[in-house]
Amino acid sequence: MIYTRLIGTGHYVPERAVTNEELARQVETSDEWIQSRTGIRERRRMGEGEVTSDMAVAAGKLALEAAGVAPEELDLLVVATISPDMPMPSCAVMTQLKLGAKCPAFDIAAACAGFSYGLTVVDGLVRGKSFSRVLFIGAEAITTYLNWEDRTTCVLFGDGASAVVAVGQDSDHEPSSREARGVLSTAIAADGTMWQELNVIGGGTLHPPSERVLAEKLITLRMNGRAIFSNAVRFMSDACEKVLADVGMKPAEVDWVIPHQANLRIIDALARRLTIAKDRVLINLDRYGNTSSASIGISLDEAVRDGRIQPGHNLLLCGLGAGLTWGASLVRW
Ligand code: ACO
Repeated sequence: MIYTRLIGTGHYVPERAVTNEELARQVETSDEWIQSRTGIRERRRMGEGEVTSDMAVAAGKLALEAAGVAPEELDLLVVATISPDMPMPSCAVMTQLKLGAKCPAFDIAAACAGFSYGLTVVDGLVRGKSFSRVLFIGAEAITTYLNWEDRTTCVLFGDGASAVVAVGQDSDHEPSSREARGVLSTAIAADGTMWQELNVIGGGTLHPPSERVLAEKLITLRMNGRAIFSNAVRFMSDACEKVLADVGMKPAEVDWVIPHQANLRIIDALARRLTIAKDRVLINLDRYGNTSSASIGISLDEAVRDGRIQPGHNLLLCGLGAGLTWGASLVRW
């Protein structure tokens, strides 16, 4: 059977760091509030003239280099994003152009579950033998959509991108076997009844761009954080339990949990619910905030490059975002 192996990783964050202290000079907040409620110390923000596909290209190049794959050898490029350069063409097409790749390219929009959704789609396409050498990128510039006067949202998000090169590899081993390597199981889900809890309601066909839409700040992110919080742990742990059960793996066998980075309290509660020790959970939100579909891949790349993730390790990836959308993947490195 064919497995999707992730043979190269990369990530990029913009140079400009925005500290909690800097935000506290703009809105009524404090470093103490932000750190104690979220775990975030600082986040990155795109520079003047920089666009989402620039971040995608930077992360993609590093992943391709690590994999030893040239852009022209790719047969598919997928970008998970809800903050593309423009409504059309896709961020993936702009990334393809700047990378010098020649393959088909498309975007996936699943908000902060973008990495989970993208990996599931890419895994299906690779295992089904439709494509064999895929560059998958999560790239987001959510700071573009923030209302900088709204303290309940502007302190949470940061910009960044992450990438993996996925290839198909034949193996005789079943996913439940210790010898199987690659993506072992994935699960995604959505519940549209909660769309009003987290959205950017303007700028599309419901509220097309207009002076009113701009004046009412409808092209900025609105969130009922408490409503999301109360569902996040349950939904993500359900997805994690499903992918573990798929291959008969126990939580104790997981080497690293790589959760989407929205809030440290959500991550801690998720680890407790899964009965996985906190020191086996990768965290980067203290430095980058919530980078939406980029966050899981940023943690993954950092831990691959600094040697925490070793061949044979079991990785449990999970995310949740607007929609609501959520998902999990089990990968043996
Ligand atoms: N500084 C100071 N006070 C603040 C701030 C701030 N930055 N933000 C909110 N407050 C105040 C509120 O106004 C409120 O004051 P009040 O009691 O006088 O009304 C008080 O703090 C408590 O507000 P809550 O919203 O209840 O704070 P909570 O502890 O729930 O934390 C947070 C808010 C961090 C947003 C949390 O709810 C959360 O992380 N939610 C989940 C977010 C998430 O997972 N999103 C999904 C992914 S994002 C995506 O898909 C794009």
